[in-house]
Amino acid sequence: MMISDLSNKIQHKKANLAVIGLGYVGLPLACEFARVGFNVLGIDILDERVRRINKGDSPIKGIEPGLEDILAETVSKGTLRASLEYTDITDRDVILICVETPVGEDNMPHYDALRSALVSLGKLIKEGSLVIIESTIAPGTMQHLVKPVLEESSGLKLNEGFFLGNCPERVMPGKLLMNLRLLNRVVGGMTTETAEIMVKLYKHIVRADLDPVDCVTAELVKTVENTYRDVQIAFANEIALICEQVGGDVWKVRELVNKSPGRQMLYAGSGVGGPCIPKDPWLLASSVSGSQTPLSIIPAARNINDYMPTHMLNLIHAALAEHNRELAGAKIFIMGYAYMEETGETRNSPSQSLVYQLSDRQSQVIIHDPYVPQYQGSVLEMARDCDAAVLMVKHQFYQNLDLKTLRQVLRSGILVDGRSFFGVERANAAGLDYWVLGIARGVG
Ligand SMILES: NC(=O)c1ccc[n+]([C@@H]2O[C@H](COP(=O)([O-])OP(=O)(O)OC[C@H]3O[C@@H](n4cnc5c(N)ncnc54)[C@H](O)[C@@H]3O)[C@@H](O)[C@H]2O)c1
Repeated sequence: MMISDLSNKIQHKKANLAVIGLGYVGLPLACEFARVGFNVLGIDILDERVRRINKGDSPIKGIEPGLEDILAETVSKGTLRASLEYTDITDRDVILICVETPVGEDNMPHYDALRSALVSLGKLIKEGSLVIIESTIAPGTMQHLVKPVLEESSGLKLNEGFFLGNCPERVMPGKLLMNLRLLNRVVGGMTTETAEIMVKLYKHIVRADLDPVDCVTAELVKTVENTYRDVQIAFANEIALICEQVGGDVWKVRELVNKSPGRQMLYAGSGVGGPCIPKDPWLLASSVSGSQTPLSIIPAARNINDYMPTHMLNLIHAALAEHNRELAGAKIFIMGYAYMEETGETRNSPSQSLVYQLSDRQSQVIIHDPYVPQYQGSVLEMARDCDAAVLMVKHQFYQNLDLKTLRQVLRSGILVDGRSFFGVERANAAGLDYWVLGIARGVG
């Protein structure tokens, strides 16, 4: 097939699409393309996931407005179906790859899923098709991994037998569909013509800027935007640690700093988690590993943000000590286990790290999260007889918590707040011993 034929098919929604990897990124993407009229095949290696999708039942945790409905509708219409079989892919004109791209203990990318998807696809790819990587990858990966693996497994040549691009995803759990429709995207093609065809494709589902670029630029933009955020949060966290030492209040300091022109200091907090921000800076850094490029800000930011759950542990330890209690044997109630507010997504959550460290110190841990099924329940019942309550995630659910009753059910009346969520006045009025990350003892 000529590239102009592919372009026509895409323009008129006659191209058959496949989405490989039906997780947080792949499933909404498959649903959206199916909703606007494309025939979409989803491929995943998880039997349970494929089965649920084919029943119109979303496997994505947490609240995702619209997703369940679109999935049910497109599956029942037959425009979307999921499969475990790559052999179903032979009639696909466009294949979008959305598999996980984690980093390992060594902070280097582990592309096993991506490599495996490319090899399985390469063996069956239809000549003239367009392959788009939506997964987040280190700069240079399209050129040094995706292209050679696909060429070798398919026996075809790039830009002759198949076309290749990178359109990194920007969605966030809780807003998957809204983000997919309304956020600007960079659209990287291995050639200018490929990028232009990709823009045509994404125009069917995105109502925002689609900026055609080369692949390295697309890879850079994606990893840089998340690294930028990580570094900014790390800065706020470091200032929080300073404030605690010198008698300050980071929340007040931030507010007043931001009254100075051009300053946009972010919020400090009990840690950074999720499937992207903790690993994308390492993907970016990995692109220069082995070279003489000295990196300091990116690893330092990662280290500070990874340290914040340990800092929460230290605050809990200090609070208990004032009540003549030890971490060992203490019963600690954790509010929020997801990696951020209003989602049930727990990957790399700071609470996971805190719970692990508390358990290591022989504390007994009770966890509550309104969005994580195994941690649901009555907050006040679960907090009963605990030595300290700890707010890790500012789910709105906790806003109406009756702090006076919380004080009554807690054994030592300690509330440690990693997000400055409840406020000194409210907590003091309830008679709680209130510790806030970033506020020195005795301030406020
Ligand atoms: N989750 C987010 O909020 C988000 C946002 C932007 C970008 N990203 C990036 O998008 C990519 C996917 O992330 P995700 O959160 O959707 O991951 P995920 O773990 O939710 O989904 C990945 C899916 O791919 C499947 N898979 C793995 N190997 C496969 C293979 N060989 N063939 C077919 N399916 C396979 C897995 O079973 C899983 O269902 C990652 O690179 C991530 O960094 C994620």
